[in-house]
Amino acid sequence: MTVQTKTSHLIERAARHLRGLEDLARSAPLPPAPSEEAVAQAAPLSPATAFVPPPPIEFAVLEQAGMIPWGRKRDRVAEEFRLVQSQVLRQLDAAAKPGPHGASLPNLVMITSARPNEGKSFVSLNLAASIAHFGARQVLLVDADAKHTSLSHHLNISEQPGLLDFGAGLTPRPETLIVPTRLETLSILPIGGVGPSRHDLAAKVSLATAIERLARRFAPTVIVLDAPPCLSTSDPSALAPVVGQTVFVVEAERTHRGEVESSLDLIAACPTITLLLNKSQLTTNSTFGAYYY
Ligand SMILES: Nc1ncnc2c1ncn2[C@@H]1O[C@H](COP(=O)(O)OP(=O)(O)OP(=O)(O)O)[C@@H](O)[C@H]1O
Ligand SMILES: [Mg+2]
Repeated sequence: MTVQTKTSHLIERAARHLRGLEDLARSAPLPPAPSEEAVAQAAPLSPATAFVPPPPIEFAVLEQAGMIPWGRKRDRVAEEFRLVQSQVLRQLDAAAKPGPHGASLPNLVMITSARPNEGKSFVSLNLAASIAHFGARQVLLVDADAKHTSLSHHLNISEQPGLLDFGAGLTPRPETLIVPTRLETLSILPIGGVGPSRHDLAAKVSLATAIERLARRFAPTVIVLDAPPCLSTSDPSALAPVVGQTVFVVEAERTHRGEVESSLDLIAACPTITLLLNKSQLTTNSTFGAYYY
């Protein structure tokens, strides 16, 4: 009963938040995003404005941001990520088979948790890298968290345009926003919305719409979303019906059962949710722990 009260309270808060965003959007509407057809018919870039891709992110920077150095040593955490990536790919392949999928897109994998600092970015980066490395798939890791200490910040690409610019219709060609890495099958889409406009843009842009367009455009690339926490923003619940699966990070010995239950209620529209226990026994041995459904 406590959970139900808390959940409805959260839903009311989320609804109030959404109403606030709608008011904001009405007061200063964004230009409409161009349709897929308009983008496809856009004139090719002239040689003078030809797109020059940014330099790839070096392994050292990926590792500084938390990526486990694959292959250099047999690391327990790396082994566990390898298991999770094969589980995620199994789900993805099963969901990609013809059949009724509702509105969800199998190539979209959302990483979220109940609260901040539970390991979402750590899991996003390592899961994306593990799929790119062991799963031999093309992977796009999308920073979908507008806070200033996000993954883009750790990868030194927080000053580059990205998801918010695409969502706001400021950059119709998302290909020009993608940053390659030295791991050839892994690319990153920064959060974008550079400077003081980031929070304004984040409040106006519909992440779910932007991400759905990205997923359709880049299918069959696996798109891993480093999303904000469920109990702090409404984004995970808006994304839940669009993504094919969610990996929900639970911080061992910290996340409360009620917080997990409230969060799972908020993302219940997602067809497959995997709970992943992170930081278990962190005090004795940095680890990532077991996972289950
Ligand atoms: N399994 C782990 N082993 C060791 N360190 C970890 C592990 N998981 C997370 N961390 C560390 O914990 C800190 C918080 O992790 P991270 O930034 O991934 O959390 P987050 O959920 O993305 O936070 P935020 O909500 O602020 O975005 C980071 O310093 C990260 O390197
Ligand atoms: Mg994070």
